[in-house]
Amino acid sequence: MTQLKAWRAAIVHCIADPKDVGTEAAYEYFEDGILVVDGDKIHALGDANTLLPNLPDSLQIEHHPNAILTPGLIDTHIHYPQTDMIGSYGEQLLTWLNTYTFPEEAKFSDKDHARDVAERFLAELLRNGTTTALVFGTVHKVSVDAFFEASQVHNLRMICGKVMMDRNAPDYLTDTPETSYQESKQLIEKWHNKGRLHYAITPRFAPTSSDQQLALAGKLLSEYDDVYLHTHLSENKDECAWVQELFPNSKHYLDVYDQNQLLSERSVFAHGIHLCDHEYQRLSETGSAISFCPTSNLFIGSGLFKLSKAEQHNVNVGLGTDVGGGTSFSMLQTMNEAYKVIQLQNENLNPIKSLYLSTLGGAKALRLEDKIGNLAVGSEADFILLDKQATPLLSSRLALSKNIEESLFVLMTIGDDRAVQATYSAGQCVHRR
Ligand code: GUN
Ligand code: ZN
Repeated sequence: MTQLKAWRAAIVHCIADPKDVGTEAAYEYFEDGILVVDGDKIHALGDANTLLPNLPDSLQIEHHPNAILTPGLIDTHIHYPQTDMIGSYGEQLLTWLNTYTFPEEAKFSDKDHARDVAERFLAELLRNGTTTALVFGTVHKVSVDAFFEASQVHNLRMICGKVMMDRNAPDYLTDTPETSYQESKQLIEKWHNKGRLHYAITPRFAPTSSDQQLALAGKLLSEYDDVYLHTHLSENKDECAWVQELFPNSKHYLDVYDQNQLLSERSVFAHGIHLCDHEYQRLSETGSAISFCPTSNLFIGSGLFKLSKAEQHNVNVGLGTDVGGGTSFSMLQTMNEAYKVIQLQNENLNPIKSLYLSTLGGAKALRLEDKIGNLAVGSEADFILLDKQATPLLSSRLALSKNIEESLFVLMTIGDDRAVQATYSAGQCVHRR
């Protein structure tokens, strides 16, 4: 039996990368549109005038004349255990990790604590319109169990993994090559492709793994067709210099991962700020992706991501918040900061490109574009309603907007969780403001 439901609003979604087809051809916009959902999938999308005569009279249509409906937002890099340490003062990456991050992550040996944070973390994602994320756990296996159990409650499409880390970190937070391999494998068997969940093999970053551990991560990756590899890459200059000391036989930072067979179509590297041409080339050749995390890169003082370089080399890019290095759960605010990072390099980040990076581009980086990322018929019904009148300022500013591109740009400049009126995952409402 079909369970049709429909939403009527302004509807916008990306259908291609603006870099490949130009801005105009990269999106579809229905000023007065209808989205029809059948159970958990998108059944129809189009202009109200065209679709209405063909819809059953009995169909209930939710009408939102002041909203813009878009796909659910996709955060390609975030740490759920760092939820409660967001906004930690005064340090760059390596001291920030030792001062704030490691002590905070130690708390996740306790499953009750992990469950509490996972629930609050997911609530925060949903109130910000994020329906899919690629998520770091901690070194503790229970941190991943707690996260996936909490995600299952809302039937969310989520990716997570246990951190692998066997050196250059406090004893209370390290595993060994063998235990990290075994525990990651057990978690894959338990969770990967269970409902909408996926597993990511998650070595923290090169400095906290021995050669043996990275080699075992590569072995594990080769044992499955479609698990992810999630780590950090070239975020901070001191980190890059340290990697050269620790791995003197590597050509560059990425080569450490490359030598261990960690580059793949399902490999996502957070940051990738300080890369040479050969690194872009290897990322491109292997179908790997970079997660661009502007609020974090500015807050931790790491540097400016070179989006145009990544584009020239055809490297897949998604956008990430990187909370708690990042300063907001909001992908709208992340787009705001992304725009500024690109401005500082005398280039422009078009709002359609920002929308792309946060939806279809993120889905492509995660190889999930056949399931999520836009509102194509047959896709999973993950979508959000953005309220054009969420605040007095949004209301007055958007009243002056000339077209959808300008409206989106304003929303992604001054909008945040207040603008997210409702969030739907697989056709079900999972947040309403
Ligand atoms: N590099 C290694 N670990 C981390 C982390 O937790 N956050 C960020 N931003 N970079 C890292
Ligand atoms: Zn990170």
